[in-house]
Amino acid sequence: MNLSAPSIEHDDCDELAALCKAGGDPLRLNVLRALSNDSFGVLELAQIFAIGQSGMSHHLKVLAQASLVATRREGNAIFYRRALPHTELLGGKLHAALLDEVDQMRLPADVQNRIGLVHRQRAAASQDFFSRVADKFRAQQDLIAGLPQYRDSVLALLDKLSFKAMATAIEVGPGDGGFLPDLARRFARVTALDNSPAMLELARQLCERETLANVSLQLADALDGVQLTADCVVLNMVLHHFAAPAEALKQMAQLLQPGGSLLVTDLCSHNQSWAKEACGDLWLGFEQDDLARWATAAGLTPGESLYVGLRNGFQIQVRHFQRPAGDTHHR
Ligand SMILES: C[S@@+](CC[C@H](N)C(=O)[O-])C[C@H]1O[C@@H](n2cnc3c(N)ncnc32)[C@H](O)[C@@H]1O
Repeated sequence: MNLSAPSIEHDDCDELAALCKAGGDPLRLNVLRALSNDSFGVLELAQIFAIGQSGMSHHLKVLAQASLVATRREGNAIFYRRALPHTELLGGKLHAALLDEVDQMRLPADVQNRIGLVHRQRAAASQDFFSRVADKFRAQQDLIAGLPQYRDSVLALLDKLSFKAMATAIEVGPGDGGFLPDLARRFARVTALDNSPAMLELARQLCERETLANVSLQLADALDGVQLTADCVVLNMVLHHFAAPAEALKQMAQLLQPGGSLLVTDLCSHNQSWAKEACGDLWLGFEQDDLARWATAAGLTPGESLYVGLRNGFQIQVRHFQRPAGDTHHR
């Protein structure tokens, strides 16, 4: 009889042990929960969990060693988000099961409050920017990409969708209103929502100049329970100003009628951190996969996409997401 022990692959064991160790701490489980639909920098996470930065860095290192979190450089800052489980790899099923269980947990109320605070700090920085730059808005936008560089692509997607004559549209964050004439020509009624009085005044002047009779302007935070729906919702270069973009896409989905379309134009992921200072950007573009994943989580179906390469090295993505026609549940 052969009594020799089965051979143990130490590398494999190390990986599984790292995963178990990373999951074996209540604070780290709560960090994973907080990252379920968001990404945060180490300072933000330290603030959210009310612990020192070095303590939080240690926990993040343990989570990263177990491949439970992934990092993304945003200029000088590093943002953490959850890594996706690969169930075909060793530990992948455990990873997926851990996230499933974690998602059943509710974050403690004080942690949720501090997440809200971090989001409000991000949003305030963005709003403050637009109140300061309204007079030089176009020049500031053109530093990266101005409407002329993506207008035709958005219109190409829009026109392919063949909206009915009575269809309605909402433009979130119209800025100085440059896209409103295009929408006014294609939709029976258009509502433009902006939370910056200075920007909305620019849009108002443009509507007056162009005598756009079917456009109404509303001073409103699009993320603050807007009670409106439309057949088409357009977000041109706005998502990267939202504090929590994944959550924001859920709220944008609620503005859609069943069968309605969400058109999102934004930068692809980039590393030009000066854009934060110069253009008030909270996020340096987005990974294409992230947008599709967030939209899917918001109950939308990814449709066609167009990409526009710019001479200054930036790339723009124009994305279509649809609320299924059969999705008639009140949201
Ligand atoms: C970069 S500008 C884009 C303007 C225009 N869509 C374009 O493509 O030129 C972003 C606009 O979104 C608005 N905005 C940012 N956060 C918002 C929010 N939470 N609700 C409504 N508007 C918002 C800003 O005030 C600004 O007018």
